[in-house]
Amino acid sequence: MKKIAIVGPGRVGESTAQILAKESLCRELVLLGLEDSVTRGIALDIQESAPLFGFDTQVRGGADPALLSEADLVIMTAGLPRKPGMSRDALRDANLAVSREVVANVLRHAPNAMLLLVSNPVDVLTYDAWKQTGWPRERVFGLSGVLDSARMASFVAQASGYSVRDITAMVIGGHGDAMVPLPGYTCINGIPIKHFLDEVTIKRLIEHTRQGGAEILALKQTSSAYDSPAAAIATMADAVIRNRKRILPCVAILDGEYGQSDVAMGVPVVLGERGIEKVVELPLTEDERLALQASADGVRAALGQ
Ligand code: 2OP
Repeated sequence: MKKIAIVGPGRVGESTAQILAKESLCRELVLLGLEDSVTRGIALDIQESAPLFGFDTQVRGGADPALLSEADLVIMTAGLPRKPGMSRDALRDANLAVSREVVANVLRHAPNAMLLLVSNPVDVLTYDAWKQTGWPRERVFGLSGVLDSARMASFVAQASGYSVRDITAMVIGGHGDAMVPLPGYTCINGIPIKHFLDEVTIKRLIEHTRQGGAEILALKQTSSAYDSPAAAIATMADAVIRNRKRILPCVAILDGEYGQSDVAMGVPVVLGERGIEKVVELPLTEDERLALQASADGVRAALGQ
């Protein structure tokens, strides 16, 4: 059992903490926030559910960066959320400033950790954090495709009427409107969805996936999605902490894979105890390759490259 730290106990951070504790994913779970009393309160609230859920995880919270001390995995959910109509890139400058401060604290207190970036624009923040740490790329990664693929899988389940248990979806590229859902790698029990759904339906659910985050924001008005992002973060944390070596689409620093270098974006990887243990390169159609290039160009523009 290990130590996990969540920086930024907003809605995504708090929901994630609840799942990690309930799943007994670590012995020690710390929440680091700006407001000491509020963050301690959130941690205590989760801790008091322990007898009901039967977990022995110790949950602590506060504003002292030393709480990060010797964490094995640091999950970065701090920063401004989107407002309706806003793109993820519009948060760039504000959230880069937050992220740099968080990463400085991680370097000081948890120099051997792995870093999972969640705040947006996540591709930009992941790249920037990787540069700032100077760590091997295996240890710095971000949430994108696990969430986007879950959205796509849930839309496939609704359109087909078949069980989500049999559905796996694959979404790669930047975590923005130019993300690249891959219907050819989206299957119902191994059978590509084109055997069950017509072309118009598949096009519709691809567009729905691209707009999935914005749709929830537009409906809720005062909050982005947090239940499905938290479930996606917990899936990634589980793969790392339990060394599952799952193949999941994550934001990774690319070093020649998919013809891209010196950029971060979503690609399928092997996720295990060493973080990103391998980037998996899939054969793509010409259209998919062009869409991925456009997505990478978008991330580069947001990076100011
Ligand atoms: C989402 O897609 C917040 O980027 C996150 O819901």
